[in-house]
Amino acid sequence: MHCTRKVTNNLIWVGANDRRLAMFEGVYSVPGGVSYNSYLLLDQKTVLFDTVDKAVQHRFLENVAHGLGGRDLDYLVVQHMEPDHSAGIKEILDLYPGVKIVCNAKTLAMIKQFHDFEVDSRVHVVKENDTLEAGKHRLEFFMAPMVHWPEVMVTYDHTDKILFSADAFGCFGALNGALFADEVAFERDYMDETRRYYTNIVGKYGPQTAALLGKASGLDIKMICPLHGFVWRENLGDIISKHVLWSSYQPEDQGVMIAYASIYGNTENAAEILACRLRDRGIKTQMFDVSVTPASEIVSAAFRWSHLVFASTTYNNGIFVTMEAMLSDLVAHNIQSRTVAIIENGSWAATSGGHIRAMLEKCKNMNILEGMLSVKSSVKAAQLAEIGAMVEAIAATFPGGAR
Ligand code: FEO
Repeated sequence: MHCTRKVTNNLIWVGANDRRLAMFEGVYSVPGGVSYNSYLLLDQKTVLFDTVDKAVQHRFLENVAHGLGGRDLDYLVVQHMEPDHSAGIKEILDLYPGVKIVCNAKTLAMIKQFHDFEVDSRVHVVKENDTLEAGKHRLEFFMAPMVHWPEVMVTYDHTDKILFSADAFGCFGALNGALFADEVAFERDYMDETRRYYTNIVGKYGPQTAALLGKASGLDIKMICPLHGFVWRENLGDIISKHVLWSSYQPEDQGVMIAYASIYGNTENAAEILACRLRDRGIKTQMFDVSVTPASEIVSAAFRWSHLVFASTTYNNGIFVTMEAMLSDLVAHNIQSRTVAIIENGSWAATSGGHIRAMLEKCKNMNILEGMLSVKSSVKAAQLAEIGAMVEAIAATFPGGAR
């Protein structure tokens, strides 16, 4: 049975939720599920914005048919070719033989890569600032390369002032009956998953996201309709300002994220002592055991906090395996402009700290503090002063100092 929601008087959400998916894109856990959003505009012409993942295809097709109410489908706008949004193209073409695909040239090439049917005669290719008249609604297309694939474009409805934003402004999590961000306690329940979504999916492409935000700033936007997560119709500035920070790699909060890798608890002990002494100075801390917490959560937290501490035992003469994997992920996501401190541990040859420094030196604008703490097997009383010195070095870099 269909399950849709009204977005406006002539726009219907026809997407679907998946709560059985274990790993989004094969790598990101989604304990709260995920939504695949698709929107159907009913005007003199009918326009469908994107399709959904194959896992929820059946419900999506029911929703589209219900939304059309017996009308034919005139246009399918393909904004993004990643299969979580494009898996239904063939089914839509089969069910609605008169439909025209509206997409850009890069998208057309990708349709041919993913699919094996004749498509040239069924495509209307658009480029930057091209428009499509649906009747009362005038749609304008803006290219958004690398947010999050090279072919991505977004669509602005000049009539209702809606931005169909593709992957931008998305969020992990099934919608659970709600559609609008103002229907849920967004800051409390969904901001962490929004940050985790942005930083892991698009975080590497900050300049490209900033370029899209620049284009959007020239538009009068009353509503944002992304391909995952909630529709924004109130307080748009809240979510836009977060994306401005994330895309420019500026921290949201002053505080220290401490990520540690510890085999027998001694490196953890050093990290815990550091956290306690930072709290004594009134500095916020958040800690992660990299062997327990998925890398996507730590990458997300690294984008949130101003200061990062990495503490790792030495393993195979290098960085402990879970720490090395997480750091590779973090560096690949272009983390930059952070103050960093390093703790290493080793029972016969501590080398992990130097390797961590070498990895992070590849990042832009990193202030890697001197005075790495090097532990031999376990923290001794004589080393507490060194931890105290690290606290002072970190505190000295806080704006206005710590208390
Ligand atoms: Fe939700 Fe880049 O696809």
